Amino acid sequence: AIDPQFHENRENVDEHEGHAVWGPVDEPEELGIHGTHVAVDFDICIADGACLEDCPVDVFEWVDTPGHPESEEKADPTHEAQCIDCMLCVDVCPVDAIDVDAG
Ligand code: SF4
Ligand code: F3S
Ligand code: ZN
Repeated sequence: AIDPQFHENRENVDEHEGHAVWGPVDEPEELGIHGTHVAVDFDICIADGACLEDCPVDVFEWVDTPGHPESEEKADPTHEAQCIDCMLCVDVCPVDAIDVDAG
């Protein structure tokens, strides 16, 4: 599962589509965590898609990640600023790849 303390345990190493990327990153096998308020651990995501289907405000968009061992696309929290903290995505992800900081 994603580490809910990632912002303390990892470093902000990059920026993608306006959100932070938390390392380590070693493409294409290691992609880190994308987003801060809505954070997706790309190394855990298996492209299930439930988060994209269920998010009521369309926070997520698919991003291609060819060569990653778990899946060749990931749910990117492109519009994390729109999040209304409903926690649906956290509940539906089968591999616990998402953390939403509703505090
Ligand atoms: Fe969307 Fe709710 Fe997840 Fe926020 S907590 S990204 S609004 S599903
Ligand atoms: Fe990935 Fe979980 Fe969404 S596996 S696509 S973050 S439901
Ligand atoms: Zn991203």
